Amino acid sequence: MSHRILFVCLGNICRSPAAEGVFRALMPNARTDSAGTAGWHVGKPPYGPMQAAAAARGIDLSDLRARQFSAGDFTRFDLILGMDAENLAEIEALRPAGNTTPVRLFTEFALETGATHVPDPYYTRDFDGALDLIEAASAGLARHLGQ
Ligand code: 4NP
Repeated sequence: MSHRILFVCLGNICRSPAAEGVFRALMPNARTDSAGTAGWHVGKPPYGPMQAAAAARGIDLSDLRARQFSAGDFTRFDLILGMDAENLAEIEALRPAGNTTPVRLFTEFALETGATHVPDPYYTRDFDGALDLIEAASAGLARHLGQ
């Protein structure tokens, strides 16, 4: 089965592109994308400090470009993963009537970390801490999907 997985955060320049980059390296056959609930950074590459922190782990984010989450994403993807509870609320607010696509917190796939969300490194400046969580959740998601 081919998996279509969308990672969502607020700006689509830190957490969700990092999640896409880490996860696609683990599961190259999955179809992946990322989006932001806000449209502020549409068309921009991932934030420089996040690109640098990811590159230090061998993860290249340079081809990714920000876009805004939209209601059509509910039918383009099999699983939508938000980085925090605010992301989930913004996603659910756009769910089309009758749509049942699962929308989950990415950290549900990293229960061993005890994290309830991926803190936003744009504000915390902890890019490595965010990447640690994203790597743990990506590994858990890959296991969940049977890879
Ligand atoms: P992200 O981080 O949601 O992980 O991409 C943010 C990036 C930019 C802004 C907020 C969050 N911003 O306010 O511009």
